[in-house]
Amino acid sequence: MTVSARQSLDIFISQKIQKGETETEKDYTREYSTFQVRTAKPSMTEHAISSKTTLVEESKSGTKHSKRIPLALPIIDEEMKTATLAALDEKLVMGESVFKFEEEFARYCGTKYAVSTSSGTAALSISLQALGIGHGSQVVTTPFSFIATANAVLHTGADPVFADVEDFGVNLSPQKARAKITSKTRAVIPVHLYGHPAMMEDFLEISRDSGVKLVEDACQAHGAEIGGRRVGSIGDAGCFSFYPAKNMTVGGDGGMITTSNDETAAAAMSIRDCGRDKGSKYNHGRIGYTSRLNTVNAAIGRVQLRRLDVWNQARRQLASHYVRELGNVEGVTLPPSDRPGDSAVYHLLVIRTRNREKVKKHLESNGIETGVHYPVPIHLQVPYRQMFGYSEGAFPMSESLSNDVLSLPMYPTLTEAEVAVICDLVKASLKQ
Ligand SMILES: Cc1ncc(COP(=O)(O)O)c(C=O)c1O
Repeated sequence: MTVSARQSLDIFISQKIQKGETETEKDYTREYSTFQVRTAKPSMTEHAISSKTTLVEESKSGTKHSKRIPLALPIIDEEMKTATLAALDEKLVMGESVFKFEEEFARYCGTKYAVSTSSGTAALSISLQALGIGHGSQVVTTPFSFIATANAVLHTGADPVFADVEDFGVNLSPQKARAKITSKTRAVIPVHLYGHPAMMEDFLEISRDSGVKLVEDACQAHGAEIGGRRVGSIGDAGCFSFYPAKNMTVGGDGGMITTSNDETAAAAMSIRDCGRDKGSKYNHGRIGYTSRLNTVNAAIGRVQLRRLDVWNQARRQLASHYVRELGNVEGVTLPPSDRPGDSAVYHLLVIRTRNREKVKKHLESNGIETGVHYPVPIHLQVPYRQMFGYSEGAFPMSESLSNDVLSLPMYPTLTEAEVAVICDLVKASLKQ
């Protein structure tokens, strides 16, 4: 039952990787339907999109069938459900599963500690506070990220200071970030956007030169590597989100801080737990929050973590199919390729096209869900315009990305056949 269902899914994904995905659409449908897998509705994975269209395809026999391809598809299988039920017999808050998940996540990332939190935003805000960052400090980061990256800085009382992204990439430019460092700068937050590692060697140099702390926003990059080191283990702290559309989830919101520093870990453990002193129930040496990860979520996270590498490998392989299919298509810019020694984990498969609306509309009218991450860069969001007086033109590279990025479906159980259908539709839309 449960184990065989899990094994079926693991075997399916592993075979996809080994075979380079030679199975047909028909095989996929048959095999997939045997898994005891609950997959989320698109509305659970993408805040903004809820298209009701379906994909109508010609099968080999000539009959038509409908199939919708979502942008993301989290996997919740029988083993995760069993783990959830078992966890209900533990302490519901800070039960054994929480500590085991933290231990296993730290081991996975190659850090001494992992401290779980209620969300990725909480992980960012708490790790900054654990590093002593607050009122009067400045933190340099990218305006081209999910808004939470900068919000977390404001939550600490510090001011986010933006620097634009690389000229030929999607991540914060080390050179542009360095130019924003002042005597008030206490930290830099590089974001490993879409699962592409940021240029951490350069940020480490900035940190050595200026003494600023480095907090990696790895909320989209579980398992990505730089020179054999996992993201989250390179800066002073790393922050992860387990929101359901991420490369791994806990069956709801959740987050994790990774660090190898004793004081930072101790402070983070206390801050996420009402500022409680270690081992005490009612002594609170800090002002903290109720920002813990629930025990049942940790139990799901433990199972998900064991699958993460296989899932990431499937994502990489799908990315290479996309690149092959769209490589020579005029009007399409492909995602950045890995720098030597890096290994991206393709949380999102993002192309660039000046004809975004046309492509998006055509795909969606054929049942393919797409996304835009992100249509408004953070500095142009209303509160940031109001608080800091930002306007159009402040960060041209980020603004240009906002105008032409388009996220195509990407999740481990997507097939090569589906990627081919999606890419054919992209090509057709550009010819219209
Ligand atoms: C880059 C980035 N930073 C921060 C966050 C915040 O994580 P959460 O939604 O878990 O609070 C996210 C998640 O969407 C993210 O993608």
